[in-house]
Amino acid sequence: MRAPRCVSLRLSPRTFILSRGHNGVVIGTISTPTLTAHRCRALSSWGAPPDDAPRHESSPDDTIYILGVGRLGQLVAHALAQSKPQLPVALLFHRRERVDEFKAAGHAIECTTPPPHPTTDKQTGFRFENLQPPPLEDPFIKPWKTQRDRPLPAPPKVPRNLDPIKYLVVATKAVDLQHALGLGPIRDRLNHDSTILFLPHGMGITDLVSTHDFPDPKLRPTYWAAICSASVYSTAPFSIVHAKRGPLTVGRVMTPDDDAGRHAQENNHLIRQLLQAKALETTVVSADELKEAQLLNLVVEAVVSSLTAIHRCSDGELLDDPSRLTTITKLLEEVGPIVRALLPTSLDDRRRRKFSDAGLMDLVRAAASSTAKNTSPLLRELREGERPDIDAVCGYLVKQGRIHGLPTTLIRLVYKMICGEWFGNIPRGIPGLKPKLPM
Ligand SMILES: NC(=O)c1ccc[n+]([C@@H]2O[C@H](COP(=O)([O-])OP(=O)(O)OC[C@H]3O[C@@H](n4cnc5c(N)ncnc54)[C@H](OP(=O)(O)O)[C@@H]3O)[C@@H](O)[C@H]2O)c1
Repeated sequence: MRAPRCVSLRLSPRTFILSRGHNGVVIGTISTPTLTAHRCRALSSWGAPPDDAPRHESSPDDTIYILGVGRLGQLVAHALAQSKPQLPVALLFHRRERVDEFKAAGHAIECTTPPPHPTTDKQTGFRFENLQPPPLEDPFIKPWKTQRDRPLPAPPKVPRNLDPIKYLVVATKAVDLQHALGLGPIRDRLNHDSTILFLPHGMGITDLVSTHDFPDPKLRPTYWAAICSASVYSTAPFSIVHAKRGPLTVGRVMTPDDDAGRHAQENNHLIRQLLQAKALETTVVSADELKEAQLLNLVVEAVVSSLTAIHRCSDGELLDDPSRLTTITKLLEEVGPIVRALLPTSLDDRRRRKFSDAGLMDLVRAAASSTAKNTSPLLRELREGERPDIDAVCGYLVKQGRIHGLPTTLIRLVYKMICGEWFGNIPRGIPGLKPKLPM
């Protein structure tokens, strides 16, 4: 195959390579020592605003990719761009409509912070990719033959971006990954040298990705995960409000086959950039501290979010009603032993006490009263007919309960009530949307 020609042009204070071949237009920095014809081709599905220099000064290897460019993904992308204008940040879209919305928004992400210190800031210069394969021109005509059996010319080859992904932030919901069965179209661009930071709430996502995408531990990327205490909502496409500030607590996720030599990766480029992005308030904790925080968060999600979704009430209203308090106690009698079975062995007695029945009840009460007037995202999802993001919470607890031989009757009931409510709202007969409870 003929390699596309590469021509060096001076566009701005920065120098770029621009290649115009049958694969499209490519813009990239010439500072890349290994820029080859192959790379020129591979880059051709990148998008970049024509009037806006992309963040390209560092090596493409330093590019931070964001999968799941929703509310939280936009906050992370915006914060990274704001903190370091030359940092390459690439947005990975899975639907063409989102690409169109991004273009209509001027290839920009606008982030507003509310009073008492209102600010509005717009960041541009993001790369973007559309991961959705193009549709066949006419789905009713077999692509390789006409109705008279005469061969048609081969459909145009759509160049697939094969650039390796070294740093990936996953900001989809957990249920999106479950539905897509892992990382899908970008899986082959990740390898043992890659770092993936998982932001979806809940637990068990890394197990899913390992099973579906990286069954061989030798080829598995390094996993990090985070608990995000910030709150972000969207007012228009690519316009977000950073409503509540709160830390992004990140730590390594240790898997059973993890190779000890990779533990000392705290100096990782992705984590460094997150630490420098002030708006994210990132703190790095140890793998055990992360797991402890994830388990505490899991309890709050399983109890407070689930019950507010079932009772259709605000967080505070859970505590006002004695019968709801009894349900909380009963649910904690099941959830408690499961999370205790998952605690890291290194945890000292003081930290273990947080996971006693009394400690977990205090946690739930404190969480529900601190957000007393709020309704949970889970309730919002049910109200708006979105698929509830519950598998990585109640589904995970049921699975772990089974593994450890612990009772899960009530958690299963909560799980089925929430899923049932969502399935109940779906018109019958839509293929692929049959209720399929994993337990
Ligand atoms: N928002 C917050 O304040 C906040 C705070 C803390 C933690 N979190 C957690 O962060 C996660 C994301 O929350 P969010 O509020 O940002 O949700 P969101 O706004 O719904 O964003 C999820 C994004 O993922 C995209 N997506 C879905 N499937 C995908 C796939 N297979 N490949 C690529 N992209 C895909 C969705 O695109 P389409 O819409 O086009 O399908 C959507 O843009 C959740 O687990 C949430 O609990 C959120």
